[in-house]
Amino acid sequence: MRPNVKKQTLLKRLSLLLLFSVFSNSFAPNSIAADSPARFFPAKDLMRIGVYYYPEHWPREEWDRDFANMEKLGFEFVHMAEFAWENMEPEEGKFDFEWLDKAVELAARHHLKIILCTPTPTPPAWMYQKYPEAYLVGADGRRREHGSRGNNALADKDYLRLTERVITEMAKRYGHNPAVWGWQLDNEPNSPPDYSPSAQQAFREWLKARYKTIDVLNKEWGAAFWSLKYNSFDQIIAPNPTMLYGVSPHAMLDFNRFTADQTARFLNWQAATLRRYTASTQWITTNYISTIGGSDPRRSDALDFISYTMYPVGGGKGLGEDGFRLGWQDGIAWANAFYKNIKGVTGVMELQPGQVNWARINPQPAPGVIRMWLWHAFAGGLSFACNYRYRQPLYGSELYHYGIVRTDGVTPSPGGLQYSQVAREMRELREKYNPDAKPPVDYLARRTAILWNHENLWNIDYQKQTALWDTWGHMFRYLEIAKSFAAPLDVIPESEDFTKYKVVIAPAYQLIDEELVKKWTRYVEQGGHLILTARTGQKRRNGQLWEARWAEPIYPLIGVEVSFFDLLLDDGNGEVRMGNNRYKWNVWADVLKPATGTESMAEYSNQFYAGQSAVTYHRLGKGSVTYIGVQTKDGQLEKEVLHEVYKRAGLTTENYPPGVYVDWRDGFWVAVNYSSSPANINVPKGAEILFGSQTLKPADVLVWK
Ligand code: GAL
Repeated sequence: MRPNVKKQTLLKRLSLLLLFSVFSNSFAPNSIAADSPARFFPAKDLMRIGVYYYPEHWPREEWDRDFANMEKLGFEFVHMAEFAWENMEPEEGKFDFEWLDKAVELAARHHLKIILCTPTPTPPAWMYQKYPEAYLVGADGRRREHGSRGNNALADKDYLRLTERVITEMAKRYGHNPAVWGWQLDNEPNSPPDYSPSAQQAFREWLKARYKTIDVLNKEWGAAFWSLKYNSFDQIIAPNPTMLYGVSPHAMLDFNRFTADQTARFLNWQAATLRRYTASTQWITTNYISTIGGSDPRRSDALDFISYTMYPVGGGKGLGEDGFRLGWQDGIAWANAFYKNIKGVTGVMELQPGQVNWARINPQPAPGVIRMWLWHAFAGGLSFACNYRYRQPLYGSELYHYGIVRTDGVTPSPGGLQYSQVAREMRELREKYNPDAKPPVDYLARRTAILWNHENLWNIDYQKQTALWDTWGHMFRYLEIAKSFAAPLDVIPESEDFTKYKVVIAPAYQLIDEELVKKWTRYVEQGGHLILTARTGQKRRNGQLWEARWAEPIYPLIGVEVSFFDLLLDDGNGEVRMGNNRYKWNVWADVLKPATGTESMAEYSNQFYAGQSAVTYHRLGKGSVTYIGVQTKDGQLEKEVLHEVYKRAGLTTENYPPGVYVDWRDGFWVAVNYSSSPANINVPKGAEILFGSQTLKPADVLVWK
């Protein structure tokens, strides 16, 4: 299982729980607009390296030594004040910043830039005592209490008032301190569902703003079903599938949207509050869990950019025998492609330093792999990478969690030494940086996008139809294929200009409207190559089916009729044939009837629909639409189909094994290897190898220019 997804589950449980011409932000822009977040991160700095520190956990006498050692190890910035609400406001309205002033001063003395963090996930005990309603109510109907973190009711007026006050105090005090580089809001805002009175009220107001009249809501929610019709907004209670069987999927979709909006609103509001007092040179971000499900990072649009957190080794199997130590191969690849596209800039705010404490099983990462993750982050165009955390804690729930230094506070951990090595390597690379370097033509030509919308995730996951379906996993197999071709990859929203990409893949794009179908059609007619997969177009945006043939609005585009879909049992042996090759499937099969002029690329070879199509290819205007209705067991059919589509589009591709990623950034090529076997990397003759060797060992890095 993917570690971060696992972690989210854990958290949930705990809290209830054309291309060449238009070439934008993935590669360094030549001029930077005043309001562009790129202005905060000069391209020549490449990627800055930093670390988390909690001065309030350590004796004051050790602070100076710790900052001095950070500087010696090569760190360039330090992250502080996260979770320290109690230290800043020990009693309601009584503030103490003397300790933080001192820590900021000492860090600056050691040439460390400072990221400050708003402490909003951890209100002090006095808040719980006086304002218990500041805590959320879980789906179990029970109010959360003081004793952990991230359990607040984001619509509670007292919580918001007290949040506003403490962050305003911080902004007034540090908003013009030249040592302060930027701000992180809250921590991993993961939007646990809230059923508290304040959330219920906010949900009703959100619905009212969206639908205006109750009649419209009744229609959109299909409220005639099971007598769910409402006479007024006051009657609505948030849908709770933990308590009730079969709650409306339309109400659920809106509750997901609302919950994500609440978090985004909270963060956007925090950003606006800080900006009243902060200098325009200080940036504001937050750190979402890379594959966050409940929150939708794109909605925090008032932040300068969005960063992510990443823990690749957390109990997952990975690839091959050593995969459990090498880490989750999709994690950084996905996060780089998704988070950078949001505002054109991103960084990894937390990256695993070594063994962690929260997974089902917490193995030691493979020697060297932490350096590899850092290089993979660099390859994705990140502006900074911050390690979580400097010191291994001696107390608290994370005392088994590694840091840059071990429990004695001074001896670097293996991860610490690797960070230090990358900090040195980054300085060497800066010497070789050429601002005029241009991405190679072949590489740029295969620029690929994955179209992604969290609303599909919410809607599918609530009604999967087969327990074997994994929405993230379905998308990751396409990400892996594009990366095995060494294609530059962005994860984009519908609002993006599709024509920047020769290939757009929309995996399991279940919720659509006519506008989107038109946009897809225009893109293809102009020469784009669109790849749609199983489940696409089944429903309207409100989650209702079309009063038409199954998924009919996409038929003219795909040149196919989707007759029906089939699902097999865990040990099911479905088979698909493409040319002479046969592939097994059991999760999902759309059975397709191609119209005249549409090619069938693969057919089912067993079950009662043997001979009918599983994959189709439709030329339209100057481009093509491929529909892949089946999800095979090993993804090899999908890879073969994509390979053919790229070839027909005139694009060259590499063929790297799973977990081997090769990316270009700022004139440098970077290859990393998450697989358990060595891989041969195609380095052109005459290239200068800066680090590593062409035979790339697992956990190793190859950098050339
Ligand atoms: C992150 C979290 C950090 C820390 C870390 C431990 O998810 O944001 O605060 O708990 O996990 O691995």
